[in-house]
Amino acid sequence: MGAENEVRISRFLASAGVASRRHADLLIEQGRVLVNGRRARLGEKVRPSADKVTVDGREVTAEEPRVYLALNKPPGYLSTCSDPFSRRTVLSLVRGVKERVFPVGRLDQDADGLLLLTNDGELTYLLTHPKHHVIKEYVVEVIGDRDERKVKEMLSGIIIDGRKVSADYAEFLPLKGPRERLRIGVHEGEKHLVKKMCAWAGYGVYRLTRTKVGRVSLGDLPMGKWRHLTPAEVKALYDEAMAGKDGTRGKASPNHDAKRRPENPAQGANPGRGARR
Ligand code: URA
Repeated sequence: MGAENEVRISRFLASAGVASRRHADLLIEQGRVLVNGRRARLGEKVRPSADKVTVDGREVTAEEPRVYLALNKPPGYLSTCSDPFSRRTVLSLVRGVKERVFPVGRLDQDADGLLLLTNDGELTYLLTHPKHHVIKEYVVEVIGDRDERKVKEMLSGIIIDGRKVSADYAEFLPLKGPRERLRIGVHEGEKHLVKKMCAWAGYGVYRLTRTKVGRVSLGDLPMGKWRHLTPAEVKALYDEAMAGKDGTRGKASPNHDAKRRPENPAQGANPGRGARR
């Protein structure tokens, strides 16, 4: 979003019913308006779905509440809103949310793991467009023997469907069960990309789990359950998408957010901005 989603702060305050635009300017001059905790400047732009704006200490919400959810999708569910063949969709798992949310991108029917849902079309666009370079991380249980050369080639670039693609990061995880597990980060959104990369390497895919989208982690959210993203997570998604807007960011590392702990993954425990009180 960036430019498209940014609005002048006086306009934002006016549309939220706080004050007329002129009066909003007065409030700003008087230092009564804060943006993410710092004093607002006249004429500055804010992102209504990501920035926290307060007037006299009270948070101002945009007219249209935005909702951001993280779902641990079980296998067997379609990541669409409806299906002509009446198959189960992820929306049937999102009960108790009155806003109409939709999935951000897709996760194969047989895959499981982190699926974001929102009614914020701009964030959806940012997260699903490869030029914005938001990395999705997968853990793949593969059928086949550990071969570090394959990982190196995935990193340097392999040809899939006639096009060179490379993983942003890839590594084998320590063996824990009967099958090898690969952790792969990719920013491209091509259909079945991770499965195709594994097929290129000669691996069968036993299980595909998405563990991260940008800095949002699946954590220990139980399968089939959802939670609200925290405002900090929403902001991080926007920031990350904007930072990589031109694909200029360097290679990521799987531990780029190693210091972050999943933030209270209990369902509904962290109201997002759309559920501000
Ligand atoms: N890559 C795949 O192969 N499947 C997904 O669902 C996502 C990425």
